Amino acid sequence: MSDKMEKLNIGLYGGSFDPVHKGHLRVARAFLRQFKPEKLIVMPCRIPPHKENPAGASGEARLAMLRAAFAKDKKIEVSDFELKKDGVSYTVETLRELKKQYPDRRIYLVVGADMFLTLREWKESAEIMTLCEPCVYNRDNSARGISEYAAGLERDFGVKTHFIRGGIVDLSSSELRFALGRDESVGSRIPRAVRGIIDDTGVYRSEEYRLDLYRRESRRLVEEKRFNHIIRVEKAAVALAERYGADVYKARAAALLHDVTKRKTHEEQLNMAREFGIIGVEELEKSPKVAHAFTAAGYAEHRLFVSDPDILNAIRYHTTGRAGMSLLEKLIFLADGVEEGRAFDGVEEIRKAAFEDLDRAMLISLEMTREKIEKNGAYLHPYTADAIAFFSNAEKN
Ligand SMILES: [Fe+2]
Ligand SMILES: [Fe+2]
Repeated sequence: MSDKMEKLNIGLYGGSFDPVHKGHLRVARAFLRQFKPEKLIVMPCRIPPHKENPAGASGEARLAMLRAAFAKDKKIEVSDFELKKDGVSYTVETLRELKKQYPDRRIYLVVGADMFLTLREWKESAEIMTLCEPCVYNRDNSARGISEYAAGLERDFGVKTHFIRGGIVDLSSSELRFALGRDESVGSRIPRAVRGIIDDTGVYRSEEYRLDLYRRESRRLVEEKRFNHIIRVEKAAVALAERYGADVYKARAAALLHDVTKRKTHEEQLNMAREFGIIGVEELEKSPKVAHAFTAAGYAEHRLFVSDPDILNAIRYHTTGRAGMSLLEKLIFLADGVEEGRAFDGVEEIRKAAFEDLDRAMLISLEMTREKIEKNGAYLHPYTADAIAFFSNAEKN
């Protein structure tokens, strides 16, 4: 081993890390101890949204959990390389990129036994064997035939396989997700810093847990009067969701978060919009009343790791509307407009229409908004103009 260590090497440890658990830490640290690399790059993979596990966390959440878990490990670098790429990421592409960055390093690929036993079927596996050397950990010692498989790879590709010894515990991410989803204690199976993120954002937690958290988050961030409005919007959203057979949890979640950034000044809204990478900041500069809807969606996505696009869109378009609005988007838009505390001229007409014909209620409401904006000489957001055109057409047909 000593002659190999003279050549600097780096490790690559990829996975979904959904959630990060103690087993991941043990694998990473056992690898560091045994192979003494210059560094270990830990890289969460992209998971197509709502594909592999609907109860899973966003890439951003998994990245945050990894950064928290490995904050004190100086030799570990958490990388968002695969998360930033579009589409599925293939190991061969990541390895090529690493080789470009570190041409003179040996690259160890840290891989679980189950995955290792499928290595020949990975995309461009022959090239993978020229780019790295596998370092296998055997999670629960159940995998069989690893040595034979390794010998076959050496014979066919001349690649040497290494084995990570000890320190590995049998933990399953799907079991942890299941326990967290029932709000059960996961004890010490998840590192404390990661548990903190899960508890503070509600990621993996039950719907009741999250609704309670979103309610507390709104209460913390807006003044009491606004909070009371939010609770009335929740109530109206539930009534409309039940009327139209929409998902009541999503309606409540979107309602509870729809005004969460409302207290911020316009300047703060714009800074948040830039920080969250929201497109159309120029439009928001011209429409102070609209910005909070976009930043509230950004807050939900980037601070609370809400990954459900239905909920995020319902928050995002609750003020402007847009062409082709989803059922949930319309429900939140209208619940905001007709909650029982609203008393403007014409509210009764919209309130009644909301329970009879959503699209007509949308059109009446949007046209009232336009009239008010035109009267005040304010800026009409293009999404609102699009929405009016959309619902006018819908009515004609
Ligand atoms: Fe709002
Ligand atoms: Fe509101």
